[in-house]
Amino acid sequence: MALWSGRFEEGVSEFTQEFGASLPVDKAMYKQDIAGSCAHAKMLANQGIISQDDAQAIVAGLKDIQAQIEAGEFEFDINNEDIHMSIESVLTQNIGDAGARLHTGRSRNDQVATDSRLYARYLCDDLMECINDLRGVLVQLAKDNFDVILPGFTHLQHAQPVLFSHHMLAYYWMFARDFARLENARAAANICPLGSAALAGTTYPLDRLATAEELGFDGVTLNSLDAVSDRDFLLDLDYACAVAMMHLSRLCEEIVLWSSSEFGYITLSDSFSTGSSIMPQKKNPDFAELTRGKTGRVVGDLVALLVTMKSLPLAYNKDLQEDKEGVMDAAKTLHDCLTCVCGMMSTMKVNEDAMMAAASKGYLAATDVADYLAKKGLPFRKAHEVVGHLVHTCEVRGCDLSDLTLDDFKAECDLFEADITGALDLPSIVAARNTIGGTGHEAVREQLAAAEVKLAVDVKLVEGRKEA
Ligand code: ARG
Repeated sequence: MALWSGRFEEGVSEFTQEFGASLPVDKAMYKQDIAGSCAHAKMLANQGIISQDDAQAIVAGLKDIQAQIEAGEFEFDINNEDIHMSIESVLTQNIGDAGARLHTGRSRNDQVATDSRLYARYLCDDLMECINDLRGVLVQLAKDNFDVILPGFTHLQHAQPVLFSHHMLAYYWMFARDFARLENARAAANICPLGSAALAGTTYPLDRLATAEELGFDGVTLNSLDAVSDRDFLLDLDYACAVAMMHLSRLCEEIVLWSSSEFGYITLSDSFSTGSSIMPQKKNPDFAELTRGKTGRVVGDLVALLVTMKSLPLAYNKDLQEDKEGVMDAAKTLHDCLTCVCGMMSTMKVNEDAMMAAASKGYLAATDVADYLAKKGLPFRKAHEVVGHLVHTCEVRGCDLSDLTLDDFKAECDLFEADITGALDLPSIVAARNTIGGTGHEAVREQLAAAEVKLAVDVKLVEGRKEA
C-alpha cells in the first residue's frame, strides 16, 4: 500500500503503478534525498516539533539506508513511486514511529524540488571539472605547437594563415564560457525550496534558513507556489549542456575534416579510431562523429523540458516528474563526450608539415599584398583590385603568388619593390597581426597567458568546493 493510501479503497493496477513511478530514474538522487531528510529532521527537533531522540533515530536510520544502497543491498520496490517514498517507507519499517514523523511539515513536492536542486548542483560541479580538463588539454596543445601555421578558413575556403595555437585557443574560450554558463546554472539551482510544503507553506514553525544553511544552499525561495513548480534551474543546466555539446560538435567536425586524407592535419591515435569490417585500410574518426551526433539528443533534452513546462498551471503537476530523466541524460552525455574528446585530443598527432603545406596554397598572402600597396599610399579598394589581377594571373599559370617575379608584380602596379617577398612570407604574415586577440605570435602569447590565468582561477573554484 502506498504511503498515501488512507483515502483509497483500491490500489492502482500493476501497470499504472509502474507507469506512474519515477523510481528507476530518481533513485540516482538517493544521497540528496537522505541529506535533505537529515537536515529536515534536525531542524524539526531544534524547533521542538519532534523530539531530539526521534531526530537522532531518523538520522541514524537514514545513514543505515544510505550504506545499504551504496553496498547494493537496498531493495528498491516499485510499489514505492519514487526515491522519496522508498526511503521513507523502509525507514519507518526499520525505526517505527520516529520514521513516520519525518514527513511533518513537508511534502514530496518541496522534497523533490530540493533533491533536484542538490542533484543539479552536483552535476554542475562534475561538468565544470570535466570542462576544465578539456580547457587544460587545449592550452597544452597550444603550448606544444605554439608557432605551427595552418590555413584559416572562411566559408571553408582558404582565407589567411593563422597559428594552430590561436585555433586551439578559439575553442578554449568557448569552453571557458561553458564553464561560466554551468556556474550560473549552479547558482540558479542553489536556492532552497524546502519548507514550501505541498504548495502553500506550512503551519509548523519551520526554520527554513537553518535547513538551507545545513544543505549548503545560498538562500531560500520566497514564494511557495513558485518553489514547488519551478524547474528553470534544470532548463539552465540543460541549456549549458546543449551549448557545450554544440561547441564539442564544432570541434569534432574539425577533427573529422582534419583527419581525412584530403587535409591530413592530424593523425588520431589508434585508441580513438575504429576500422571498417569490409575495407581493411580504413581508420575512422568514429568518436568525433559520435560526439557530434550526440549533440542532437542533448538539444532534444532541452527542448523536451521546455515543452513539458509550457502551459503548466501553478503549482505542482505530475508532468514535472518528466523533468529529471532528460537532465540526467544531458549531463551524462556531456560528461562522456568531454572525457572522450579530452582523450582524443591529448593523444592525436599534429602534422605540422601538412598544415604548412596547405597554408602555402590558396593565395593566403593576398590580403597582405594588398595591405603592402595600401601602406604605400594606394587606396585599399584599388590595391584589392590589383591583387585580384595577380591572383587571376596565378590561376591562369597554375602557380602561387610567391612564384611570380618582381616584373610580374610591377606589370600590375609600379609601387611593388623587391621587399614584396616579405608580404609573401607566411610566418611574417602571421606575426604582423598583433592587435589584441589577433593571430600574431605576440598577441597569442598574451592570449595564452590570459587563458592560463583564467583556467587556474576556475580550477581553484571547483577544487575549493570539493574540499568544503
Ligand atoms: N515522483 C514525483 C516527481 O518526481 C515526486 C513528487 C510527487 N508529488 C506528488 N504530489 N505526486 O515529481
